[in-house]
Amino acid sequence: MKTESAGNGKAAQTVEPGLDRATIEKAYARWAPVYDLVFGPLLDMGRRTATNAATRIGGRILNVGVGTGLELPYFDKSHEVIGVDISEPMLRKAQERVDREKLFNVKGLTVMDGANLAFADGSFDCVVAQFVITTVPQPEKTLDEFARVLKPGGEIVLVNHIGAERGLRASFERWFSQHARKLGWSPEFPFKRISDWAEKNGHVRLVERRTVPPFGVFTLMRFSREDVASVRPAAATA
Ligand SMILES: C[S@@+](CC[C@H](N)C(=O)[O-])C[C@H]1O[C@@H](n2cnc3c(N)ncnc32)[C@H](O)[C@@H]1O
Repeated sequence: MKTESAGNGKAAQTVEPGLDRATIEKAYARWAPVYDLVFGPLLDMGRRTATNAATRIGGRILNVGVGTGLELPYFDKSHEVIGVDISEPMLRKAQERVDREKLFNVKGLTVMDGANLAFADGSFDCVVAQFVITTVPQPEKTLDEFARVLKPGGEIVLVNHIGAERGLRASFERWFSQHARKLGWSPEFPFKRISDWAEKNGHVRLVERRTVPPFGVFTLMRFSREDVASVRPAAATA
């Protein structure tokens, strides 16, 4: 695993082996025409769970890795949604959906890397990303960006497959990972990676973690953006 220098007190930045930007773009250019057919109903419960959590926060919502926009109709129409994705072919599908379904609350769909968001600090009330964090080349850097563009009090909402820690499923996921990367996904991704990131970032607090039906292989994680003092009182007074 390649690690870039941490810098600015942020989490160490790791680059997933085999999950570079070119591989991801190639993988999702292939997925785009059939994505809805293959992953539409299969992942719908996760999408509903994520958008329900985002709707409770409301305001201005950034949807990272929006893909073909299957989740876009689920956001409350009174909330402004901006969608970004690294894959232009996936976004084209999302734009067709926005036009077809007249989703006027979707204010923009832009090709953008989640690890380099072109938004000012504190721009959003909620950043939501489902089935995304295990597909990005730089998960920690991407999560740092989510925290940066959030307003204090805002929330990061993630829904993802999280790798099993032990047992048969863990062994299978480790074996499968070499093939899955070509499809644009890292199936063995452990929760510890996300909790370590939160600890290092220092601006976020885990407020909810629970499995999502069906089969309990997906996990909802919500992080609230707080000021440094309320997250780490000891460090702040040192
Ligand atoms: C598994 S799809 C999820 C799509 C959608 N959220 C859903 O619920 O079906 C993952 C999406 O993340 C996008 N993605 C991967 N790496 C990214 C990055 N660094 N920045 C933005 N989007 C990225 C992919 O292009 C793809 O559209």
